[in-house]
Amino acid sequence: MFHDQEIYEQELELIFRKSWLLVGHESQIPNVGDFFLSRMGEDQVILSRSKDGKANVFLNTCRHKGMRVCRYDEGNTKLFYCPYHAWSYDLNGDLKGVPESENYPESFNKKEWGLIKVAKVASFRGTIWATWNEEAPSLEDYLGDAKEGLWYGLGPWDGGDGEVEVYGGVQKWNIPCNWKFVSENSGGDPLHNISHMSTDLSKIGPREGVGRRDPFGELFLTATGNGHGLIFEKVPLAKPREHYQLSKITSEYFEDCWRRRIDRLGEKAGSPMVLANIFPNAGFHTQQPRVFLMAHPNGPRSCQAWRMFFVDKDAPQEAKDFLRPYYISYSGPGGMTEQDDMENWNYASEGARVRAAKDAPFSYVADSGSFKDPFIPGNVSKWWMTERNNVAFYHAWADRMGY
Ligand code: FES
Ligand SMILES: [Fe+2]
Repeated sequence: MFHDQEIYEQELELIFRKSWLLVGHESQIPNVGDFFLSRMGEDQVILSRSKDGKANVFLNTCRHKGMRVCRYDEGNTKLFYCPYHAWSYDLNGDLKGVPESENYPESFNKKEWGLIKVAKVASFRGTIWATWNEEAPSLEDYLGDAKEGLWYGLGPWDGGDGEVEVYGGVQKWNIPCNWKFVSENSGGDPLHNISHMSTDLSKIGPREGVGRRDPFGELFLTATGNGHGLIFEKVPLAKPREHYQLSKITSEYFEDCWRRRIDRLGEKAGSPMVLANIFPNAGFHTQQPRVFLMAHPNGPRSCQAWRMFFVDKDAPQEAKDFLRPYYISYSGPGGMTEQDDMENWNYASEGARVRAAKDAPFSYVADSGSFKDPFIPGNVSKWWMTERNNVAFYHAWADRMGY
């Protein structure tokens, strides 16, 4: 499953064409005419904001002869104008203009030649998702018990109704690894922390002194069904959540948010969701750093990773400017933590392919047991020494693949 072309093709069909996939964030297309070129599996799709205010998702494949009708990563437009023979499509993907259309037979009906639309589009706390599957449950049902943790994780730091925004550009880069290694990592692989030892000794974290991020409290894993894996943290309520001595304004902003969060959420404030993988390939890091990770498959041993950084929309500009270089030095192609992880994923993909090794099973058996927690959904495990979330991911995978 980490190197076979046939299995990979089945994944595209049975997993990527059947699941809800993250395609972007509302803040990337705030105005009518805004678009963002996204991906669903291997397929390039356009996410656009039409005049009725709706988010639309359709294939970036001209219905005439297949040319890309959009070749910009993002922007604003009235029409998607195919450069090949000049068919043009509106923001809903409907075919509007066909040059010399008097030469087409009367039976040619423009309504039948719009760009190919996904079956469903839905939003969840600013994130936009789409699926090709007519029979897919609602996005909320698909997220299931992952919903509440994700809801607060994708919202502003103070736990209120405000918004977050994708800040700066999207980082995109190709890595020679199987997409599932990335999903395993986002969804809960506590055993790999050893890989980040050297980064932990660096000073990339937002505080003074060494460390790559704010110290986590105690961490807990839970698999909430449908293959989703989540990680929650337990932090003492009394402690101000963030304190960035290097930026007084940032420090005060987060301390103030944390106080408001406790007022709002009470004890629940102390159990934020910090990491997640929503099946199959939507990764989230919801505390510092705050990032989305989409690992788009490009073949059994290749994927294109997209990192998007997000911040509270109402945060002071200085806080945003303070966090951005931190996020970039943590995640993305230049991020130290990501480089540690990528090295593992790339070499593991390579190692899995070795002929003499390829029929031997891998081990997914570490399990430290589970219990119930009032603020964390599902069967909860302590952070160390468990591969429960990875096992749950592969149960969902096997189920979809018909094994
Ligand atoms: S391929 Fe688009 S107009 Fe011909
Ligand atoms: Fe990691």
